[in-house]
Amino acid sequence: MNVLILGGNGMLGPWVVGAIERRHRVLVTDIGDLKFETGAEYRKVDASNLRQVVGAAAGMDAIINLSVLRQDRKLAFDVSTRGNYNMAVAAVTHGVRRLINTGPHFQLAGPNYEDHDYGLSPDMPPQPGSRLYALTKALGQEVLRIYSEHHDIYVQTLLFYNFYDPVTMKTPGGQQRIGVDLTPFSVAWQDAGEAVRLALEIELGRLPSRCETYNVFTDLPHGKFSNSKARQRLGWQPRHFLEAAWTRR
Ligand SMILES: NC(=O)c1ccc[n+]([C@@H]2O[C@H](COP(=O)([O-])OP(=O)(O)OC[C@H]3O[C@@H](n4cnc5c(N)ncnc54)[C@H](O)[C@@H]3O)[C@@H](O)[C@H]2O)c1
Repeated sequence: MNVLILGGNGMLGPWVVGAIERRHRVLVTDIGDLKFETGAEYRKVDASNLRQVVGAAAGMDAIINLSVLRQDRKLAFDVSTRGNYNMAVAAVTHGVRRLINTGPHFQLAGPNYEDHDYGLSPDMPPQPGSRLYALTKALGQEVLRIYSEHHDIYVQTLLFYNFYDPVTMKTPGGQQRIGVDLTPFSVAWQDAGEAVRLALEIELGRLPSRCETYNVFTDLPHGKFSNSKARQRLGWQPRHFLEAAWTRR
């Protein structure tokens, strides 16, 4: 497949590119200069710019959106919400049927859910709360859901929270302390990249609807969330269980 990646220069980008670049023709895009080594083509594309996204999507079979802007009010809407609108318009313009969206788990399961519930599935009604990051990502997901109702596009959204290097147990936020409980929505970078690959390669006819969401975290003892949909639907099999952080000696 010809695959366009938006926002591919961030933390997750290299893992996604690593998982798919030998199997597909990948065009990595982002706003700055390329920050990691890859044999894939690279181009500067601003996800908030409709013309640029439509231009980059020509001839593509799939678009993966990894872009995010978390803090600034205007930029957060421009990238995390409008970026998805631009991706949807680009898909319809060029007949790209396969869209992969990403975001934090709290764009679906915001503070209320997390405080009180267990076994949380990705098919529950969204309740992102009012934080800018969660809200702009949730709105972006809603734009894609509505587009999938009106156009022949298939949207799969993969939700993540904490990423880990499974050897050093480092996270983007710092070093996980051993013996201290870890967030109940954690995954190794490699396993996250593999989940995106599986969503990219799943036969569209096997999806129960044109808009599906998955919780992507490894098997953890907490039981707060459920990852069974990613396992069953995508055939995703996490390889790293991050036991060092939750096994008591
Ligand atoms: N890193 C985490 O801890 C974490 C946790 C949960 C979910 N996620 C989700 O995973 C996905 C990937 O995030 P990440 O960890 O790589 O984040 P990141 O912040 O490292 O990377 C985001 C990328 O988006 C790019 N970007 C910003 N504005 C852009 C624009 N206008 N046009 C194009 N690109 C733009 C940035 O340059 C950056 O390379 C996002 O959907 C994010 O919400 C990340």
